[in-house]
This record gives sequence, C-alpha cells and structure tokens, in this order.
Amino acid sequence: MTIPQVLLGDSPAMELVRLDIESAARTSAKVLITGETGVGKEVVARLIHEQGVRSRQNFVAVNCSGVPETLLASELFGHARGSFTGAFRDKMGLVRQADRGTLFLDELGEMSLTMQAVLLRFTETGEIQPVGVDAPAGRTDVRLITATNRDLRAQIAAGAFREDLYYRLNVIEIRVPPLRERGRDVLLLFRHYLRHACELHRLGPQELTPGAEQQLLAYTWPGNVRELRNMTERLALRESNTPITEAELAPELGSARSGRTAVAVSRPDAESVMVQELWDALIAGGDFWSLVYRRFRAHEITRAELLALVDRGLQETRGSYRALVKLFNMPPADYKRFHAFLYQQSCNLPVTPYREGTVRSPGESSPATEVSRSG
Ligand SMILES: Nc1ncnc2c1ncn2[C@@H]1O[C@H](COP(=O)(O)OP(=O)(O)OP(=O)(O)O)[C@@H](O)[C@H]1O
Ligand SMILES: [Mg+2]
Repeated sequence: MTIPQVLLGDSPAMELVRLDIESAARTSAKVLITGETGVGKEVVARLIHEQGVRSRQNFVAVNCSGVPETLLASELFGHARGSFTGAFRDKMGLVRQADRGTLFLDELGEMSLTMQAVLLRFTETGEIQPVGVDAPAGRTDVRLITATNRDLRAQIAAGAFREDLYYRLNVIEIRVPPLRERGRDVLLLFRHYLRHACELHRLGPQELTPGAEQQLLAYTWPGNVRELRNMTERLALRESNTPITEAELAPELGSARSGRTAVAVSRPDAESVMVQELWDALIAGGDFWSLVYRRFRAHEITRAELLALVDRGLQETRGSYRALVKLFNMPPADYKRFHAFLYQQSCNLPVTPYREGTVRSPGESSPATEVSRSG
C-alpha cells in the first residue's frame, strides 16, 4: 500500500495542517505529530520530509510499538557482533541510515522508559552508541519527527513518559484532526478510495445514495482514514452496480464499533461472549498487550469490553492493580504503562469498592453500567 504524497481534503482543519507542514519543512526543527489512530500522521511526516531540503536523502520510518523493546535500541543504533544472542555480525542502525535525512519514530508513546532515556541522550548529544559498544561511534545529522496517538501529558502525569524528552521532541507540534472534524472531506476521501478500490479490482465505478452520504457524514470514525479506506475496499467488492445504500452501510458502521455508542452498550450478549473469550485467553497465559491492547487499538474491542475485563480482574485481585498486571501476564515493570493506558481510556476503575467487597457480583455487573460510572 503506497502512501500518497498528497494530503486529500479541503476542509479548514486540513488547510491548517497544510500550513503547518509548509512551515515545518522550512526548518530542521524536531516535530511532534499528534492525533488519533489512522488520521494520517505518517502521511504528514513524509510530506514534511518531501517538502524540505532533506528530500533527496532517506526518510526512515520506525514503528516503536512493532519492535520488541529489547531490539529497539539495536534497530535504531546498531550493535556490535556478539553483543547479544543472535548478533552474528556488526549491524548498522536505522539512525545511521537516516543520516542527513529524516528519522520518523511512530508510536512514540509506546516506548519504554529505558528506551526513552536512550533517545533523550541521543537528542542531547547526537552521538550514536551501538549496543555492546562502550564508546560512542560517531555523530549523525538526522531530522527527528515523532508521532503518537496517546495523550503524552497524561502519560507524563502517570509517570509513563519523561517530561524532559517530551519538551525536547515537541519543538513544533502538529495536531492532525480526526476525520469527524473535517466535514465533507469524509465524502471526498470516501469517493477517492472507493474509486481506487474499484480500479484495483477492475470493477465499474460506484455511487452513493444521498441517504448513505448523510450516514457517512454523521458517523464518528473511531479508526479515521484507515477505517474509511478499509471500508471502501470491502464495499467495492459487493455484487451490485446500484448506488450504495444506507442499509448496505449499516453493518459497516456497526453501532458497537462506533466510539459514541461504545459507551451505551447495545449488544450485551455478544459483548459478554467476547469478554468471556478474552478472559479465558488471559487466564490461560495470554498477555494483555497482544490479546487486549492491540485489538482495542484496532477497534476490535470496545471500551466497554475493556472496562468489563478490568472490572472482572479487579474483583479477582480484590482491587490490586499490581496483582492485575501479574494476572494479565505482564512483567511488573509494565505497571505504569498499563496504568497510563487505563487512565487514558478512563478505564482506571477506583479500587475501594473491590477492597471493601462492596462491588456487585459478576452476574450483576454489566459493562454498560461500569462505563457510565467512569465516563
Ligand atoms: N488526508 C489524507 N489523504 C489521503 N489519504 C490519507 C489521508 N490521511 C490518511 N490517509 C491514509 O490513511 C491511512 C492511515 O494513514 P497513516 O498511516 O498516516 O495514519 P497514522 O495517523 O500514522 O495512523 P497510526 O496512528 O495508526 O499510526 C493510510 O493508508 C494513508 O494513506
Ligand atoms: Mg502511523
């Protein structure tokens, strides 16, 4: 999937982003791009690089959440042969590959505190220190662009993100607005990607009924442009050449998946099945980050379901979040990160009722009521 070098949309919100990109491209100052998942943060980062004086050099993108924590330092800064099991030869890090160009660190908020310290030192000195090497191995000249969909200030408050690093990286901040703040850009993007998908599958062009248009405009788009894009790919393949109707869109804009109605749970049965399955998998030894967190971020799990799991876990641990970290198969060091995540999602349930035993029995407690309690 190639990322377009143009930013579609002519809403005032996107015009502002375009101005931000232009002014960022005139300097080599560090940029922090914020915005919900799927809004186009990487597109913005690439455009800053393309429009600046470094455009002929490399743009190197690293997803900090995709790389296991232990490997991230070596991915970025390289390593010496034999510095850890599997390091068969010296390896040049990605930072060096980005020399004179741009290094884009995506999902910055996922970075561990250890790695944040390493990154901070790098931003202060510009020196590269490969893993397993005692002295710095030279300097580089990289433009650093970072992105996150988390509220870093909340993470700082929760002790999960370093404040000094935040100020260092946040020289220019660009906020990419969610799709629901872009007005009719929704239809423009929808038509663009629908046409794209139809061409890809060698299908005829497809239209939307006015009712369907209204429905798209009213939807909250929790997964933003990525969600829209995936939706058009599925719709392109429907076996019909009549315009897409509201009825055809309805299952795509499923109420349980929309951010708005995740609060008012409308399918308790389906949800409790999902919660039960997740719970069983966790108890069987699955870890929270891959089982729950990733799927939550992919909008496969609602906030109500997440809350139901936390509720059930706290009943089990009698209100201890530390014990919950263990129960959900995370190392103790993940406590702050786990807590920051729950805090960000307003799923950090107060512990007193669990400690006092005043919480209702599992049968009585429903995700819907838990959500309204904290949301
Ligand atoms: N304004 C836009 N015009 C055209 N395509 C866009 C636009 N914004 C986003 N996209 C497309 O939407 C998808 C998601 O964009 P991108 O990967 O940049 O989002 P992101 O904010 O980095 O997401 P995440 O938080 O998950 O990393 C990509 O396929 C991208 O090409
Ligand atoms: Mg991204």
